[in-house]
Amino acid sequence: MSLIEPILWDDWHVVAEFERLERLGGLQTVLLGEPITLTIDADSGCISARRTGRAQAADGAQAADGALSADGAPSTAVAVKYGFVWVCLGTPQRPIVEFAECEEPGRLLASAGSVRVAVSGLRAVENFLDLSHLAFVHAGFLGEEPHTEIEAYAVDPLEGGGIIATGCRVYQPKASPVAAPGFDVDYIYAVLRPYIVVLYKANPVEQARKDMIALFVQPVTEESCIAHILTCYLPHEIDLPAVRRFQQFIFGQDRPILENQLPKRLPLAPRAEISVRADKSSAAYRRWLSESGVRFGAIPAL
Ligand SMILES: [Fe+2]
Repeated sequence: MSLIEPILWDDWHVVAEFERLERLGGLQTVLLGEPITLTIDADSGCISARRTGRAQAADGAQAADGALSADGAPSTAVAVKYGFVWVCLGTPQRPIVEFAECEEPGRLLASAGSVRVAVSGLRAVENFLDLSHLAFVHAGFLGEEPHTEIEAYAVDPLEGGGIIATGCRVYQPKASPVAAPGFDVDYIYAVLRPYIVVLYKANPVEQARKDMIALFVQPVTEESCIAHILTCYLPHEIDLPAVRRFQQFIFGQDRPILENQLPKRLPLAPRAEISVRADKSSAAYRRWLSESGVRFGAIPAL
């Protein structure tokens, strides 16, 4: 088995909602194909993450399969941020992503849940970026016919890696749990890491300020993932359980479509799948993944 590329191995990934770990006291999950056991000490609140799958050779190469008990398994870097548990399997090369909005007073920060999807996590990120599906997949909520035209928008590289799409404008009948009536919503998307994407959208009450929804995708295997959703809303008439239900409902509409995509991994070759204007961000995303050498969850360009 080949090594996982450092851009993923040496970075932080969400592996659980903190609240869920706290409630269960321990849980098992898989990140980049590596089984992990998370535990929380009831007295100290200390969290530990151990790789309970394959044994690791001293040089970091993956040795033959052999399940390890949680006690003897190597521990790995773990942290809690934004209500989620983050793990880095290798040596962290940079900090966990930061969002200035989450530090603003009065913002309502909450997990909107974790959804398991039987497709590459890169496909889940790309779907989140895709403006053209809103009027069809989320008709009546995030889009509506005949408002299917996608206006031109800009896609630029981000300093430090990733891409940003600005000037996106979409008519939405019900842009959020409190939005009524429909209005043209300004969107900004930023892909900050191969498996992390954030969406800023105009708040229905304060249209000059933006609500934020981040998708932290946990690559489980190359063809399956868990999408963890963080919402950071302005506090106007927001009811967090309703936000969670709304986001779960919206993601529930995406899930069957994602799971029916073939191939399940994301092809990175240019023109591997038909491209239209609304796919500008998706084309830039694939190009950046390819240039960055991301292979896990992808079908690399030759
Ligand atoms: Fe969607």
